[in-house]
Amino acid sequence: MMQPALSPKTLAKTRLEDRQRRAWEQAALELTYPDPRDVPAWRGFVDASTAIARKYLPAEEAERLHEFFSPDGPDALLIENLPVDPVLSPAPSDGRRPGSKTAVSEAVIAGLIESHATIISYSNEKAGAPIHEIAPATGLEQVPSSSGRVRFPCHTDVALLAPHFSPRGLLLYGLRNENSAPTSILPLERVLDAARPALTASLEKPIFRHPAPASFELALSVTAPVVWRDKHGAPRIAVQTHAVQPVNAEAGAAISELREILAALEPERVVVAPATALLFKNDRVLHGRSAFRGERWLQRAYFTDSIERFRAATGGGPGNFAFDARQLISTR
Ligand SMILES: [Fe+2]
Repeated sequence: MMQPALSPKTLAKTRLEDRQRRAWEQAALELTYPDPRDVPAWRGFVDASTAIARKYLPAEEAERLHEFFSPDGPDALLIENLPVDPVLSPAPSDGRRPGSKTAVSEAVIAGLIESHATIISYSNEKAGAPIHEIAPATGLEQVPSSSGRVRFPCHTDVALLAPHFSPRGLLLYGLRNENSAPTSILPLERVLDAARPALTASLEKPIFRHPAPASFELALSVTAPVVWRDKHGAPRIAVQTHAVQPVNAEAGAAISELREILAALEPERVVVAPATALLFKNDRVLHGRSAFRGERWLQRAYFTDSIERFRAATGGGPGNFAFDARQLISTR
């Protein structure tokens, strides 16, 4: 089924000029990446990165970013020709940040997000690192996850903690992408437009079991809806379409029908190339990717606009950004 490219209302795009990128890169090269478990050191890095981003992000790109983080802004934003580390090691195969890496990409990620929102992580995933290395990991290539190479069907991240404690959005940053493996983006509206009213009604019922993502060290699941309405009446979604389980026959039929719709819809394919940031709202679009070959190394950060809610639910102190999903589940 062919469909038109996503409108700017859904996916906005912008690009820095070379001289702007170089100036930002030089400033970011002065920063040292901290041990993020050291909360004050992490906060110092974030504040410095945010100050640099405010100084060097050109006005037009800053406006696009502001619009993305606004309630009525686009669901996704692509920013190209951002600063990159001048020397990069090969992609890590152990999921860990190479110790020799300079901190340019992390400074860009933190600077773009923290001028409008707060980076969060989960202590049950990638040791609570605020910025994740997304590259095939030895022994996990066949797992549909951020550590695999196989097809990763459309999903939202951390669906079992929706709506209050899943990430509001994600930023993916390209470091290496040898064969231009694309990331798929599918707006929720397109899914709901294709769904019969009876299917949408089923998806809004709490009859679906959401397991923890494969990247989590957590054998837990939560029973909840797939689609819900926010306080403004706008639809939101949380689902791993390959892993969600039915609680009853109605849910089983709804999952089958949802998968049929997703198979028929053509998502937007966006290449997160080196020096490119893709930001999107985790409960407004589904994302995924095809199987890929060759080297691919992205970095990922989750963000929220409600960090105080996380801290209140877990007793986390000021500056705390890594939360235990088990604690969040018990209060969701
Ligand atoms: Fe994902």
